[in-house]
Amino acid sequence: MSALLLLAGLPCYAAGDPVRGEALYQGCTDCHSIEQNDVGPKHGGVFGRKAGAVSDYSYSSALKNSGIVWNEETLDKWLMDPQGLVPGAKMFFTVTNLQDRSDIIAFLRAQSK
Ligand code: HEC
Repeated sequence: MSALLLLAGLPCYAAGDPVRGEALYQGCTDCHSIEQNDVGPKHGGVFGRKAGAVSDYSYSSALKNSGIVWNEETLDKWLMDPQGLVPGAKMFFTVTNLQDRSDIIAFLRAQSK
């Protein structure tokens, strides 16, 4: 119990497993891929980049003007609740499990080196 309280109180994120993240990323591929724009923008290089920065993808103005930079924290919030982070964003998909989000983020990070 005390360990749980400690974890809950810290602004840290569970360590992500990029291999598991790659498998979970299959759930994103209805709309995304690493190399090509689809319903959503391509994801290669997304970690560390500004939101809305793929020049040949047509973003919502909400995301394009959000000023967000994608890192562990912002991606975690985005995957938990895209409209909560960026009202007016046009991604309608959420990942409710913290470990799943961390693993997917680790995978995206590995695609951005
Ligand atoms: C039903 C389609 C759909 C699914 C499934 C989906 N997305 Fe998206 N995603 C979008 C759309 C559309 C946008 C563009 C949002 C905007 O312009 O407001 C987007 C934007 C993003 C962005 C911002 C990229 C940038 O260049 O700023 C990230 C990061 C992202 N999605 C991650 C994910 C991940 C990770 C998953 C899987 C867990 C996922 N998405 C699943 C449709 C989807």
